[in-house]
Amino acid sequence: MAQAEAFDRSAPRTERYDQLDMQCRALLTDADPIANQANFVALLHMAFGWHWVGFYRVAGDELVLGPFQGPVACTRLFKGKGVCAEAWARNAPVVVPDVDAFPGHVVCSAESRSELVLPVRNAAGEVAAVLDVDSVERGDFGQDDADRLQAMVDAVSHRLLNEGSPDV
Ligand code: SME
Repeated sequence: MAQAEAFDRSAPRTERYDQLDMQCRALLTDADPIANQANFVALLHMAFGWHWVGFYRVAGDELVLGPFQGPVACTRLFKGKGVCAEAWARNAPVVVPDVDAFPGHVVCSAESRSELVLPVRNAAGEVAAVLDVDSVERGDFGQDDADRLQAMVDAVSHRLLNEGSPDV
């Protein structure tokens, strides 16, 4: 049975990222990428309580909703519009301190105020999915969050995508 240690939400973020690093490597051991994506977003939600945390996977010219925690969200996003599409195009994290100031931001929840989106890269280095994190606080994400989360996603990307299980 999957177990996760409780997170102390009052602990500094950097400590929670350390705890997450260990937990996600231990927990994301299944060969099924959907199961691993589901537990990954659950862990992030447990650790930080962010408003919305979830995956969109690349499908042709669109991004299609995957496992998430939070309110219902847009099912499909399109190339060239929004924060998720920007991270996909750049193949790099996009930090948005104020979603209202981001041209083309796609509103899935009116409560979101800031957002961070990261690419999930396959073995060839191409973006196969994105991880989207939304907060009800303005300016909730900085470069530290982008760096820590990107390192974590890169470390387990083979587990989050349909790329076999090289470390079992
Ligand atoms: N705001 C995103 C859309 C996804 S939701 O926030 C869950 C965007 O602009 O791409």
